[in-house]
Amino acid sequence: MIKIAPSILSADFSRLGFDVETADKGGADYIHVDVMDGHFVPNMTIGPLVVKALRKITSKPLDTHLMITDPEKYIPRFAEAGSDILTVHIETCPDIMHTIRLIKSLNVKVGLTLNPATPFDSLLPALSEIDLLLIMTVQPGFGAQSFMFDQLPKIERAKNEKLKYGYKYEIEVDGGINSDTISNAYSAGGEVMVAGNAVFGKGSIGENIRILKEKA
Ligand code: DX5
Ligand code: ZN
Repeated sequence: MIKIAPSILSADFSRLGFDVETADKGGADYIHVDVMDGHFVPNMTIGPLVVKALRKITSKPLDTHLMITDPEKYIPRFAEAGSDILTVHIETCPDIMHTIRLIKSLNVKVGLTLNPATPFDSLLPALSEIDLLLIMTVQPGFGAQSFMFDQLPKIERAKNEKLKYGYKYEIEVDGGINSDTISNAYSAGGEVMVAGNAVFGKGSIGENIRILKEKA
């Protein structure tokens, strides 16, 4: 069964709690929290305080996507705030095994991701150690961009490596997921679909989640 992880990046921040509660009741499987530092990506969003506030209003896994330089410096704070999954970019981790051990030591699930331009092979040494593998289908930094179809082979590769070696990670896809593109990401092997604009953009949040699941 496909999972939907609404990205709060496209929620209405003046009523964030309401939007997240509505997504939770409307069938969201995870709540995807995009953390941007204005350095690794050219946009700034939120920090651990917002994760802490959301922790009080939802019991769904808080799937925290760290688009930040030097993630190890902030990982303990996001764990403390209540993140269930902490996903780091391989580009920001000079010693990925060290970062993975740090996240595990805080009893949080480990996610790993890569920019569209980064080769899949850079992840290979870590694949046996992670709980979630996030494939980016847009350049990280902004919501409502177009799905990059040229990243579909990476999703397939994630699935094939998982099958071949029996890895346990879930395959998550992030960027440009909507009712037209979700079936492409799903057939390629995606299991968890991040969706920002397609959930919070227009219309009813619950209905949007239902439609995405139906179109997969
Ligand atoms: C992009 C973020 C995504 C983004 C997805 O940097 O990682 O999670 O919010 O938004 P949509 O679904 O609108 O492409
Ligand atoms: Zn994201």
